[in-house]
Amino acid sequence: MKIAVAGATGTVGRYVVDVARERGHRLVLLSRRAGHDLTSGDVSAALAGVDAIVDVLGIQTLSRRRATRFFEATSDTLHRSGARAGVPHLVALSIVGIDGVDSSYYGAKLAHERAVETGILPHTVLRAAQFHEFARQTVSRGAFGPVVIVPKARLRPVAAHEVAGELVRVAEGDPAGRATDLVGPRDEILWDMVRAVLAQDGSRRPARQIALPGRMGAAMASGRLRGTDEVRRGVVTFSEWLRSAGVPR
Ligand SMILES: NC(=O)c1ccc[n+]([C@@H]2O[C@H](COP(=O)([O-])OP(=O)(O)OC[C@H]3O[C@@H](n4cnc5c(N)ncnc54)[C@H](OP(=O)(O)O)[C@@H]3O)[C@@H](O)[C@H]2O)c1
Repeated sequence: MKIAVAGATGTVGRYVVDVARERGHRLVLLSRRAGHDLTSGDVSAALAGVDAIVDVLGIQTLSRRRATRFFEATSDTLHRSGARAGVPHLVALSIVGIDGVDSSYYGAKLAHERAVETGILPHTVLRAAQFHEFARQTVSRGAFGPVVIVPKARLRPVAAHEVAGELVRVAEGDPAGRATDLVGPRDEILWDMVRAVLAQDGSRRPARQIALPGRMGAAMASGRLRGTDEVRRGVVTFSEWLRSAGVPR
């Protein structure tokens, strides 16, 4: 198969590229660093002969407005360009447990799902829990001066590599609307995950746990992002990941 990865240079996107390559697929890499800004324009030429697009695009903001604009614009580009190129399947990655959390970044992810679901191309949305890599993303993105700000969160994190495997498996199949949610094998507290990566990196940066305000913060703290029982479960625990692949790529 020929698979286009939108967000090919990102945390999960790089694993999607690795896994798809290991399974013998041909690849088209889409991201700004790969020469394509997907917020506007037409990438139908790059999508010629593509059998599935995997959308693992992301934007680093908590602003619902900014993130919604981003996901609506990039989904529109992928749908329109994909339709022109005759692509039969768009696969998009979303987040487990965000129903009813229509605010901040999660509000934008709900808008992302709607944009994927109402566009021209047949689609499948896969929701995954936070990645094990989310701990290190929190360290790099949650800085307040030297202090690492850690949202209070009960999670069921999963290795980005396993999410990538599931995305490629979904892309190899027919459009299904919604795939079964994917979560990790064990519950974790984000605070413990962050302290573990700081220790592994030999970092002495101070960290503070705070309850994020608003519905997004409440959802993180409540544990609802761990999903229900009707899920697929990854097998790699956070501590196994940290011991093996838990170093930045
Ligand atoms: N992180 C998690 O724990 C987690 C859990 C579940 C679901 N998700 C979802 O998974 C998706 C990917 O997350 P991630 O953490 O892998 O994101 P990430 O590391 O921030 O990667 C984002 C990707 O999007 C590309 N990108 C950004 N702006 C672009 C633009 N204008 N045009 C083209 N490409 C653009 C980036 O590449 P360039 O900079 O080269 O453009 C990069 O490849 C997100 O939608 C997120 O909501 C994340």
